[in-house]
Amino acid sequence: MNSEEKQIRQDLLSSFNLDPQCIPQHIAIIMDGNGRWAENRGENRIFGHLNGVESVRSVVETAVQSGVRYLTLYAFSTENWNRPKDEVEALMDLLVTTLVQEMDDLNKKGVRLNTIGDLSALPDNCNNQLKSACSKEVGEVRLDLILALNYSAKWEIIQAVKGVVRNNLKIEEINTDTFESFLQTKGIPDPELMIRTSGEHRISNFMLWQLAYAEFHFTSVLWPDFRKEHFLTAIQDFQNRERRFGGLLQTNDK
Ligand code: FPP
Repeated sequence: MNSEEKQIRQDLLSSFNLDPQCIPQHIAIIMDGNGRWAENRGENRIFGHLNGVESVRSVVETAVQSGVRYLTLYAFSTENWNRPKDEVEALMDLLVTTLVQEMDDLNKKGVRLNTIGDLSALPDNCNNQLKSACSKEVGEVRLDLILALNYSAKWEIIQAVKGVVRNNLKIEEINTDTFESFLQTKGIPDPELMIRTSGEHRISNFMLWQLAYAEFHFTSVLWPDFRKEHFLTAIQDFQNRERRFGGLLQTNDK
């Protein structure tokens, strides 16, 4: 990080009174409310997804600037296939277009792309574009951006159980560490903060294992309206929580 980037981080964090030592390493987001945002404007749901891309851009940029190391975005769940065909197609197209337009610039900014979920069920062009975007070399990695695509936590856990069986693990070899090595998030630290937009208070089959000790921040802001200030407010909320992990005292005191 050069001195200009350090100054940008310092200014950003101090403007929200954030402790630089207590920035969550990993933030996971359920981006919700695109459809309602569009319907509120008399538009079709796809218009909401299109506008949601601007929020993705803003959040990724703010995550890099504020020192978050991993950002997971729930972009398409296994249940989302039940939406109308034109909406599913529009979401896939949007993903491809965004990757093509943004990836070079993101790589230059130190953003490395990863995915979790079953990509094999995605359309070929989408799958190929994702593979190519994920394989791009990034100099100094500042942020791992993880897109959850055709993902559901129950599917992931069942995949992991199958991995355990396939590898003939003995009962006494099965523990948290070995089990996690079969999850899609192998090698990635668990999110400390989960944000869900649009006023819904549930986790919808998202990272059930990994969110075991995460702090949850729910906001009524619809995803296409979600920007830098909402992201930093969520971190502020996180920093004001007392995290005990089942024990007695571990605070995020500033
Ligand atoms: C949930 O809103 C949102 C989605 C299912 C898709 C999220 C996709 C994007 C933000 C755009 C593309 C993403 C990337 C990473 C380029 P909803 O449709 O369920 O809204 P509703 O609850 O109001 O109906």
